[in-house]
Amino acid sequence: MAPLINILWLLPIQFSMLFVKVNGAKIPAIIVFGDSSVDAGNNNYITTVARSNFQPYGRDFNGGRPTGRFSNGKITSDFISEAFGLKNTIPAYLDPSYHISDFATGVTFASAATGYDNATSDVLSVIPLWKQLEYYKDYKKKLRAYLGDRRANDVISHALYMISVGTNDFLENYYAIPGRSSEYTVEEYENFLVGIAASFTEKLYELGARKISLGGLPPMGCMPLERTGNFMGGSECVESFNNLAADFNGRLNSLVIKQNNKFHGMQMVLSDPYGILLDIIRKPGDYGFEETGVACCATGMFEMGYACSRSNPFTCSDADKFVFWDSFHPTQKTCSIIAHYIVKHPLANFLSH
Ligand SMILES: *[C@@H]1O[C@H](CO)[C@@H](O)[C@H](O)[C@H]1NC(C)=O
Repeated sequence: MAPLINILWLLPIQFSMLFVKVNGAKIPAIIVFGDSSVDAGNNNYITTVARSNFQPYGRDFNGGRPTGRFSNGKITSDFISEAFGLKNTIPAYLDPSYHISDFATGVTFASAATGYDNATSDVLSVIPLWKQLEYYKDYKKKLRAYLGDRRANDVISHALYMISVGTNDFLENYYAIPGRSSEYTVEEYENFLVGIAASFTEKLYELGARKISLGGLPPMGCMPLERTGNFMGGSECVESFNNLAADFNGRLNSLVIKQNNKFHGMQMVLSDPYGILLDIIRKPGDYGFEETGVACCATGMFEMGYACSRSNPFTCSDADKFVFWDSFHPTQKTCSIIAHYIVKHPLANFLSH
């Protein structure tokens, strides 16, 4: 008798779990667009110098593998996927070792060094945002062939879409090379970028996306590269860049409100890393960090990509003590803290329904 009773007890639980699935309540996949903050190695398969598929990158990744993530290990989007009960890493769409069966629960089209602005992706010949959307259309066709129309449509309409881009438009483009800064005031440029974000999210909506996480900018004046350039200011964070990031995030937040009102069923949120990252930088000890101003890799002052070579004798031994891995990108540990903050706050509603 006892086993039968156990089975009867279990039945309602199984049915209720099934009910949740049928409702499509859970996030079935995470689909990512953006720059190095969320690129898992797409740039390995294009011709560009914006690369990181060599040591010491990835030295704390599964088996010490340099995948093309700009980190010593995993990146924020990987931790978010894990927190949603999906895969513990999100694979790069252009990586031929993955297939549609892998991409069905998560994929990234992101490309390091890209921006909202086509002129930003041109600087280092990386994948522009519009092209990432073309790859997404291609992905949708493959997903339909793999899962069938009904299940594929379910994934497409319930997936979480993440967009994480914008820092390079300012630091690699507007403030680094002539061109945009002679065409636009910084405020006009911000509005130009927000306009691109508006049309990008509208196109995503038309293609079936509903749950969208629009990424805010980090306090970009605190990146070691910018601090190194601020030698007149004692290598402190560059306030003007931080203020610009905060101002831009405010404009993105207005866009989120506007799009949610305009498009029926749209559930867009702003995933803003600014506050949490600034808190880490101001109170590193609270999070177990020891160094905020310079990065782990090489001298930590300006190196990233190829300059972060394996042979550099200055590279730190324990990246977990550092907020930044290279002069532009956070360590795996920082990414993990940001991801958990984002999941707990802006994305919290998507965890339950
Ligand atoms: C970027 O380039 C694509 C392809 O040429 C074009 O369709 C798009 O309008 C451009 N975006 C902007 C904002 O100029």
